[in-house]
Amino acid sequence: MGAEPTRVSDEFVTVARVADVAPGTAKTVVVGEREVALFNVGGTFYALDNTCPHQGGPLAEGWIEGTRVTCPWHAWTFELTSGAMTLGDFACVDTFAVRVEQGAVRVARRPRGATEP
Ligand code: FES
Repeated sequence: MGAEPTRVSDEFVTVARVADVAPGTAKTVVVGEREVALFNVGGTFYALDNTCPHQGGPLAEGWIEGTRVTCPWHAWTFELTSGAMTLGDFACVDTFAVRVEQGAVRVARRPRGATEP
């Protein structure tokens, strides 16, 4: 009989080590089937869907200023804490809860507000 697979939290997945994402930078990670942009703002981590709702620009490659990121393609800007677009409420991106545990950065498998499948 084979060993049981290690059961980790069903809700969060480890995506990086803290040292992998320096303060003021971001990294693209994969959570399930989604690309997620993981940001480190002064030691606090935020996770947003990496795909800009305008035309799909990679938000992890955007410009970070405070708790905002500006898409590198056409400069739409989003609040990291809420995913809201700063120029109006006609667009937003999904946000994911983040936990730091023993040097590991863990991101929720489902975005905030998502219902069970
Ligand atoms: S793709 Fe992000 S602003 Fe256009």
